[in-house]
Formats: sequence, C-alpha cells, structure tokens
Amino acid sequence: MRILVLTGAGVSAESGIPTFRGKDGYWRNLDPTKLATPEAFARDPQLVWEWYRERRKRIRNARPNAAHEAIARLAQHTDDFLLVTQNVDDLHARAGIPAQRMVQIHGDIFITRCSRCDFERYDYEQEQEKGIPKCSQCTSLMRPGVVWFGEQLSWNELQRVHDFLDCEACDVVIVAGTTATFGYIMDWALQGSRDLGELIEVNPEETPLSRFATRLVREPAAIALPRIVEGLLDSRCSRL
Ligand code: OAD
Repeated sequence: MRILVLTGAGVSAESGIPTFRGKDGYWRNLDPTKLATPEAFARDPQLVWEWYRERRKRIRNARPNAAHEAIARLAQHTDDFLLVTQNVDDLHARAGIPAQRMVQIHGDIFITRCSRCDFERYDYEQEQEKGIPKCSQCTSLMRPGVVWFGEQLSWNELQRVHDFLDCEACDVVIVAGTTATFGYIMDWALQGSRDLGELIEVNPEETPLSRFATRLVREPAAIALPRIVEGLLDSRCSRL
C-alpha cells in the first residue's frame, strides 16, 4: 500500500500541546497566529522568544499519544509511506517515525537559526538563556527554526513532498487534526488520493477538506487513529 498522512496541531492536542486556533491556543491573552509571524518578531523578539521557550518546555515534558503511536505503526508496516506534519514538535519522531519518512513542513521548534546568515544549531536542552540569542557567526538575532506566516516553505522539504506525490496515487490519504487552512495541505491531500484512493479525515470539527473526504471520522485523533490503522493493517493482511 501507498499511504500519505498529513497531520496538524490536533494530533498533539491530547499530549497537552495547545492547538493554534482552538480556545486553549491563546498565550497570555495573545493570539498564536499573530505571534508566529516575522512582524511579531521584528516588533518584540523578546516576547516571541518567551513564547517559544515556553512551548519548547511544554513539548519536552509531553509524551507522544496513541495517535502518534498509531501513525508510527502504520509507517513501520507500509513500504511506501510519507508523513507530512505541520507540527513543529518532536512527538511524531519520539513515537518512532524515522526522519526519512517524515517531512516537518513548518520546521522544527528545537532549531535556533540566525535571522540573517545560514548558521543554525539544535537547542533541545539549552534553555538557560533568558534574552534573545545572538548568532556566533554574524551577531544578528537568532530566531526559532520554524516557518512563520507569510514565509516560504523550505525548498528541500517541499521537494520531498512533491517527489512522493509525483510518483503515483496513494491507496489511502489520512488527514488528521488540522484545520487545513493552508491551500497546500488541501492540494496535497487531493493530489495524493487523485480520486482513486481513500481520503480519510480525522477531526472532531468540519474543515474545508471535509467535503472531499471519502470517510469522515469525527473523533479525537488518539481514539480514532489506532482503530483506523488496525483496520488498514488488517485489510492488507486479508488481501495477501
Ligand atoms: P489548528 O490549531 O488551526 O487546528 C487544529 C485542528 O485540530 C482543528 O481543526 C481542530 O478541530 C482539530 N482538533 C482539535 N483537537 C483534536 C483532536 N484531539 N483530534 C483531532 N483533531 C483535533 O492547527 P493546524 O491546522 O495544525 O503554522 O494549523 C496549521 C498551521 O497554522 C500551524 O502549523 C501553524 C499555524 O499557525 C505556522 O505557524 C506557519
């Protein structure tokens, strides 16, 4: 089977990581969709860093949930598999998805990179700093290694998604825990299934993608995904 899985913040919600647009997403009364912007960083880099440091801490203390584990199991048992996640946390990786089977299309929250030159470092535990980190190469401000609103996606990561999609249609596309706000998420889901395969949406709420889904699962991801994955793995065994 050829399987594409697209995930968003809802998949990490049951690990205690707030979503972006949900009512729990607000931080100190600030809208996360306004904090995750180059404009917010230019205006108040200290505030943006405080938000990211708190998020890093919360993610470090969180554990993958049954949804991350089910997706990892599906990856393990499927030859032709790609996970594209909008999540910048490391919960999919910690659940056991190898890096070559996953694209973090909005970056990795534990990377700190220079806002001017190419220098970057991996900052998993380095949270002693309180201020705004400065680049050791060019002294410019460092920023979190994530993609903000209005910024370009990484060309390399985009290429990996396109290489997978260009090959052939998928038997199954699963879209879980995302509002599918970005056009490219919709495009990839539709291109992946190409009217041939199954398009499964896992989300308690309706989204713009819902009307294209061949199967709608209106449940939390940690409940629905283990069952969906078992079903897919069983159906494959019975086809052998
Ligand atoms: P959102 O916060 O926009 O949406 C979360 C989605 O998850 C909603 O559709 C919820 O209904 C759904 N949801 C909530 N709890 C769930 C659960 N337990 N199981 C399944 N679904 C659940 O998050 P994203 O769609 O991931 O980008 O947001 C996309 C991007 O916008 C983010 O990567 C980030 C953000 O701003 C950037 O920062 C560039």
